This record gives sequence, C-alpha cells and structure tokens, in this order.
Amino acid sequence: MRKGLNVILVSLFWAALLACQKPKTAEPSEEEAAIQDVNGEAVDADQQPRTTPTTCRSLNIPTYDLLIKDLSALRCDSCHNETFAWKGIVLTQYDSWKTYVKPIRNRIFYNLLTQPLESGEQEIFLAWIDNGLPRMDADCAGLK
Ligand code: HEC
Repeated sequence: MRKGLNVILVSLFWAALLACQKPKTAEPSEEEAAIQDVNGEAVDADQQPRTTPTTCRSLNIPTYDLLIKDLSALRCDSCHNETFAWKGIVLTQYDSWKTYVKPIRNRIFYNLLTQPLESGEQEIFLAWIDNGLPRMDADCAGLK
C-alpha cells in the first residue's frame, strides 16, 4: 500500500516538474501534439520513456530494502546476529554488508557457506553486490 502511494507521489512530482519546464507556446509543437491522446488531453509525461527516472527496479537490480534484507534474514542472520555472530560478523544491518563486502562476496561467489545458497539466491546477492550494494530504489539513478 505505502509503496503504491510512493509511486504515485513520485509520478506526480515528475509530472509537475516537467509541466513547469514546457515552453509556453500558443500552438502545440508537433512533439507535444504527438503526446496528446484521442481526446486532445496531454498524456501523462511520466509515461514517456525518455522522462522515466532510472530506478533499481527498472534496471532489475535488487536493493537492500526491498530484497536483500529479507534474504539475509532467511540465509545469514541466524548465524550472524547481535547476540551470536560467527567471526564477529553481524549481518542484520546494511552497514556490515558494506564493511565485509570482500569476504562476503568471496563466500557467496564460491558458495562456501555452512548452508549453501540456491543458485537463484546466489545470483540475487551477486547482482546486488556487483552493482554497488544499492540500498533504496533511487540509488540506481546514476548507473545508466
Ligand atoms: C549455519 C550458520 C551460518 C549461516 C546461515 C551463515 N554463516 Fe557465515 N559463517 C558461519 C561460520 C561457522 C563461520 C566461521 C567459520 C568459517 O569461516 O567458515 C562464518 C563466517 C563467515 C564469514 C567470514 C569469512 C572470513 O573470511 O573470515 C563471512 C563473510 C560470512 N560467514 C558470510 C555469510 C553470509 C553472507 C551468509 C548468508 C548468505 C552467511 N555467512 C550465513 C556460519 C554461518
């Protein structure tokens, strides 16, 4: 529910921003005419590919908040939490993934885990790590 609301708010934000930037001309230019629907109403600028902001979701890159946090809870946190942590590595916080990214990547890449990962889970972790461990959907804006 809240995610849906966020998407709407972000869309409205972009629509408002783009509306302000349109040059004020008496006649609509050819380009503007092309993005009007059959009723002559301007099509929501947000639906035009060139104006869609890049997000991790649009690039199919996992984020910590949406996926990795849960996957960590499922696959890592039982042995790496605040009260019990093998090798002192606590993986219940985003920051520790950043701190230990090298040994973590190594372990996941070679699947050297006490409880080995499924290949799908392994791919998700690696796609996340190799794209710079984005935390939120907006963190991929600079990637492409
Ligand atoms: C069933 C328990 C268990 C789970 C689940 C587990 N680990 Fe570990 N982990 C260990 C143990 C035991 C060690 C220390 C012994 C060793 O090095 O294998 C360890 C050590 C590590 C180390 C230290 C490696 C080094 O070079 O010092 C890293 C990094 C690590 N685990 C990452 C992970 C990640 C990431 C996950 C989840 C994908 C995970 N672990 C899940 C038990 C676990």
